[in-house]
Amino acid sequence: MSIMARFIIAYNSTTGNTKAMADAIVEGAKSLKLDAVAVDAFDVKVEDLLAADAVGFGVPTFNYHPAKPILRLLDDLAGRDVKGKIAVVFGSYGWSGQGPVLVAERLRQMGFTVLDPVIRVKYQPTENELFGCSLLGKDVAMQLKNIKKTVSLDA
Ligand SMILES: Cc1cc2nc3c(=O)[nH]c(=O)nc-3n(C[C@H](O)[C@H](O)[C@H](O)COP(=O)(O)O)c2cc1C
Repeated sequence: MSIMARFIIAYNSTTGNTKAMADAIVEGAKSLKLDAVAVDAFDVKVEDLLAADAVGFGVPTFNYHPAKPILRLLDDLAGRDVKGKIAVVFGSYGWSGQGPVLVAERLRQMGFTVLDPVIRVKYQPTENELFGCSLLGKDVAMQLKNIKKTVSLDA
């Protein structure tokens, strides 16, 4: 079964920290009426990402690397047409936290438009940090609305 959403976040989360961030981003996007969903990366297929208008990657850092289920999705995306597709990247970490940065870099090389900021949170996100995540979700909704406006003006 494939997941149809305008904004889909694929996250990996072993203790729920990155998932909490993903949920806050979804809540922010939904508050501006964007159809948004956060799904465990194990259940996301590359076609789900390609069918969405915007994508998110929730990336905890393990052994100085981005979480493996996210890397698997990036490998599957290689060579596909993603030019200009909006992406957000975020994740919880403990001490080095390079996972989200490395993923954002790879996405940019593929042609994604990665929104700033790439949000990293040490272990469990605070209320304040979750608020920052919800703002990022709102940004995605606003960016998609701007793109739609441009398209309808051109038509
Ligand atoms: C086996 C293991 C390896 C880890 N390696 C790193 C690491 O290299 N760098 C880092 O910043 N955090 C590391 N962490 C900490 C996790 O990134 C941190 O616990 C994070 O909150 C996990 O997020 P999650 O609950 O979304 O899975 C590691 C944790 C575990 C259990």
